[in-house]
Amino acid sequence: MTSEVLYRKYRPQNFDEIVGQKSTVEVLRASILKNRISHAYLFSGPAGTGKTTVARIFARAANCLDDSPEKRPCNKCEICKEFLSGVGLDLIEIDAASSRGIDEIRALRDGIRSLPFKAKYKVYIIDEVHMLTKEAFNALLKTLEEPPAHVIFILATTELEKVLATIISRTQHFEFRKIWEEDIQKALDMIVRKEKIKVDEEILNIISVLASGSLRDAESMLDQAFAASSGELEPEQIRRLFGVPARDLLLAMTKAILDKDVKSALAIVHKSSEDGVDQKSFLKLLIQNFRFMLYLKVDPNYSKELADFISESELSAMKAFAKENDIKKFETVLNNLNDAYPLLKIAYLQQLPLELAILKITSAKEI
Ligand SMILES: Nc1ncnc2c1ncn2[C@@H]1O[C@H](COP(=O)(O)OP(=O)(O)O)[C@@H](O)[C@H]1O
Ligand SMILES: [Mg+2]
Ligand SMILES: [Zn+2]
Repeated sequence: MTSEVLYRKYRPQNFDEIVGQKSTVEVLRASILKNRISHAYLFSGPAGTGKTTVARIFARAANCLDDSPEKRPCNKCEICKEFLSGVGLDLIEIDAASSRGIDEIRALRDGIRSLPFKAKYKVYIIDEVHMLTKEAFNALLKTLEEPPAHVIFILATTELEKVLATIISRTQHFEFRKIWEEDIQKALDMIVRKEKIKVDEEILNIISVLASGSLRDAESMLDQAFAASSGELEPEQIRRLFGVPARDLLLAMTKAILDKDVKSALAIVHKSSEDGVDQKSFLKLLIQNFRFMLYLKVDPNYSKELADFISESELSAMKAFAKENDIKKFETVLNNLNDAYPLLKIAYLQQLPLELAILKITSAKEI
């Protein structure tokens, strides 16, 4: 294994390798095929979902010298290579988080007037564009009003609500979505295979849940896991590293909740905090468990899909729970656990939202 961090090593180099973001990739690809390129794009969405990556792929595709448009970016031609190396004069990346001022945007305004050095288009990728100062924003707006034909702007932001409506209306806007847990797990699986490291599927599942839709976070966690262990990764070790509850603790909690056994349920919360379990992970995995059971309840065939995520013994326990309990019960539990989740941000004690959810569930009349 190299020392290069995974998220850089596995940055996709063409559209096919992008995980999720299907409609965005489709539209951008079509615009390359039809050679219909806009002069300003806006990519918004959570961190680690592919905005910078897609921006760079698109920048190369728009300029690629390969004869067949469907092969762009070829990543082999002179321009692709130059853009990939990061030294090309026609690909300018600006991080608005660090260079927020009017001077930078003025420099940019002057820069866009001159023609590209080699490429067809000069591409400006402006990351975290919402961080620009007001003056810089206004200057940018002027540039966006009449961008020269040889320039492409790709603006990216994690906070769309902070971007002026006048900017949004002058761009072609794409919303990047959180990446599905299943897709994250598949992506991690591919990485560990390429790295030739044996990793339990269970670990990949834990990480894909904890990553909350960010593939970059998932890859960084995998890095941490590799760094923390010598040789094969053990699920227990990874649990401790990330404060993830042990499966038997989770299963015991699942059972206590379904049995409406307040005493055991609260005792498990107590034990979990003594064991250093991260309450956010606890709640997430608990929600995941109940969702799985809901699916199993609706369609027993779902167990085939679940086999990739959980162990056989756990699956059989969940199947039994699904059979014994009413669908209404799963709905009530999921509602309450889901309501508890955002409360973690403001709770006086990290255990409190789960404790209160347990009280609500076990006292609910309808179940
Ligand atoms: N949709 C995705 N498909 C494949 N890899 C991704 C995706 N999103 C993020 N990654 C991984 O995370 C890294 C960082 O992604 P990046 O494009 O910089 O995210 P963003 O700009 O949205 O914060 C990439 O190098 C890649 O390894
Ligand atoms: Mg980015
Ligand atoms: Zn090329």
